[in-house]
Amino acid sequence: MDDPLNQVLLNQQSRIGSDLSLWLEGWGGDGLNVAMSDPAAIIPVIKEAGLLGLGGSGFPVYKKWQAIAEQKGSDKYLICNGNEDEPGTFKDRLLLEETPLQVIEGATIAALACDIKHIIFYINPNLKACLKSMESALERWLQSGFYKGIYESGLLLNYKILASSGHYIAGEETAAIEAVEGNFPFPRGKVPRPTESGVHGNPTLVNNVETLSNVSHILRKGAKWYQNLGIGNASGTKLYSLSGDVLSPGVYELPMGTPLSELIYNYGGGMLVGKELKAVFAGGPSNTILTEQGLDVNLDFESVKVRRAALGTGAMIVVSRGTGIVKRVAQYMDFFADASCGQCPSCKTGTYYMSQLLNKIDTGKGSKADLDNLVDLCRILPGSGRCHLLEGAVKVVDSSLYHFLSEYEKALQE
Ligand SMILES: Cc1cc2nc3c(=O)[nH]c(=O)nc-3n(C[C@H](O)[C@H](O)[C@H](O)COP(=O)(O)O)c2cc1C
Ligand code: SF4
Repeated sequence: MDDPLNQVLLNQQSRIGSDLSLWLEGWGGDGLNVAMSDPAAIIPVIKEAGLLGLGGSGFPVYKKWQAIAEQKGSDKYLICNGNEDEPGTFKDRLLLEETPLQVIEGATIAALACDIKHIIFYINPNLKACLKSMESALERWLQSGFYKGIYESGLLLNYKILASSGHYIAGEETAAIEAVEGNFPFPRGKVPRPTESGVHGNPTLVNNVETLSNVSHILRKGAKWYQNLGIGNASGTKLYSLSGDVLSPGVYELPMGTPLSELIYNYGGGMLVGKELKAVFAGGPSNTILTEQGLDVNLDFESVKVRRAALGTGAMIVVSRGTGIVKRVAQYMDFFADASCGQCPSCKTGTYYMSQLLNKIDTGKGSKADLDNLVDLCRILPGSGRCHLLEGAVKVVDSSLYHFLSEYEKALQE
């Protein structure tokens, strides 16, 4: 059997930096040429392929694209979301730095499918190498004969690279829209959706870097090919960010649906010498925990959900026996309390209060009433914030209480 590692997005043909001639000598440009030959066929192909949003939600890409495409005559926007700031997730930076042309071509096809004129590559300024690589690739793209041909065919696109504020919250899609308008990235709230009213009130498509990176390949090779890359009912490949107590942490591009045990033991080299697995923060700190019993789970959106967990960005943070779960969750809550933008009292005070309770319990000063309060907050807080930061913060506490309640109880004051 072929090695399923790094077949598409991280393939050597994609990792050529900003060298446009090399990109076009390989598979570069093929997807865009197919897309341009029949723009109306793009969305049906993306739908059949089963491409999902890979920024954390797993939302079907074609639905957002269709919603934008159906709105005629407006000045529409595409934001390619490269803010990537959550601890444990480090995949988009690899794509932006090493495969900028793959990102640009995918975004161009998305714009063509939805009749979008403004493309914004929105990048975390702390990822300096990504900004540099994207700037160099875009400059070459715009000066090339290839782009001239696209331009002459009537595809009048306006590309821009925008550095985000670098805050975690800046990656939330409505916060990104605010940033594009020149404001501080305060999330706007759940309605109206960006597809209805985004940048300057125009329909706006926000897609993650990894999501858009798949697009040219799907057009180039077809929907069936993409479907067959995944395991079981899952389509495509996934970039898993593996970190924590494993021998070979890193980003692994594997078939979507690869079992967690395979990721850790076959690709990640297994646990550090002398360490035994205790838990995995699956989907990163804003998601859920899997334990040893969950190691056989296929890492795709649906299969992970069945195990009371979530795939999120595909970040897998492995912790070994001896790691205090309460301490780790307290550290994550400190991050969320700090990252909360402060617009919603329930989020600002809720994350702060949970952080206080968790730290109190972790240091042996917590009472049964503190633990009860923590449980209550997990029930009360979800849904009360403008954006999903609060849900993410609650999810990890809730999941830790589900799997490791005894650890919390043991930590309480005598
Ligand atoms: C607090 C917060 C931070 C986020 N940060 C990012 C980010 O850095 N990159 C990203 O693609 N999505 C991020 N998201 C998700 C976006 O809101 C949005 O769902 C995503 O960009 C859509 O792309 P997709 O459909 O291709 O997954 C974040 C969400 C929240 C609530
Ligand atoms: S839920 Fe939190 S992060 Fe989101 S808008 Fe409200 S205060 Fe800001």
